[in-house]
Amino acid sequence: MPKHFLMCRPEHFTVEYAINPWMHPEADTDRDLAIRQWEGLKTAYEDLGHRVSLIDPIEGLPDMVFAANGALVAGGRVYGARFAFAERAAEGPAYLRWFAERGYPVKEPAHVNEGEGDFLALDEVILAGTGFRTDLAAHQEAQEFTGRPVVSLTLTDPRYYHLDTALFPLDGRNVAYYPGAFSRGSREVLARMFPDAVLANDADAEVLGLNAVSDGTHVVINSEAGDLQLELKRRGYEPIPVELSELRKAGGGPKCCTLEIRGENTK
Ligand code: ARG
Repeated sequence: MPKHFLMCRPEHFTVEYAINPWMHPEADTDRDLAIRQWEGLKTAYEDLGHRVSLIDPIEGLPDMVFAANGALVAGGRVYGARFAFAERAAEGPAYLRWFAERGYPVKEPAHVNEGEGDFLALDEVILAGTGFRTDLAAHQEAQEFTGRPVVSLTLTDPRYYHLDTALFPLDGRNVAYYPGAFSRGSREVLARMFPDAVLANDADAEVLGLNAVSDGTHVVINSEAGDLQLELKRRGYEPIPVELSELRKAGGGPKCCTLEIRGENTK
């Protein structure tokens, strides 16, 4: 089944503030390289037969390339983002407008949440991260709006500040994750829900290898995550390695650049 993704070209990408431990404003960033690497990701999706829509980048919003944070889309309903940091606040309404203009049913959020950075939808449940960015109250709000059960998971390592930096769905029923990013209770929940999960090691996590996008067959993944790619192959998946080193300077990888539009517009 082809997927539909929303992406935002990193035309204004730079690291000018630090809101996660990956970001070092004093270090150099190469915008042209970031754009080339991002084009490589977009092409990888298109070569796999997926559809990519684009939202216009806005000057002064250097992190807008991280489209995953723009909203949560489930069953064609769009739950808007409300960012934890002022630096990104304007992205929420910009993404919500994109969907509203195309006729999607949208919900303005009352609570802080960073879209698919912290909400990952499976067939029956939505996994939701909290601890750094998204409020627990937003998990409840998302459940009420989407009508899907939301399972809260607590992140404890500041390097893995969004759920999508520590876990990705392999398909609608199983996941890959890095146990070290989660609280003890959340590790138990994950082990109970996903006894066959793919577990990633420290080295895979440290190159944002968990920030991957699977279509159930292919896994678009940071090229440096070597062990995880081997394990995915062993499990019958085909890794599609991409190079996104420039965007990693902002703490982002393939999934961060990708908002999945699940369920077509029902209106
Ligand atoms: N610099 C961005 C931030 O800290 C990176 C966001 C990455 N996005 C993601 N879905 N993990 O908010």
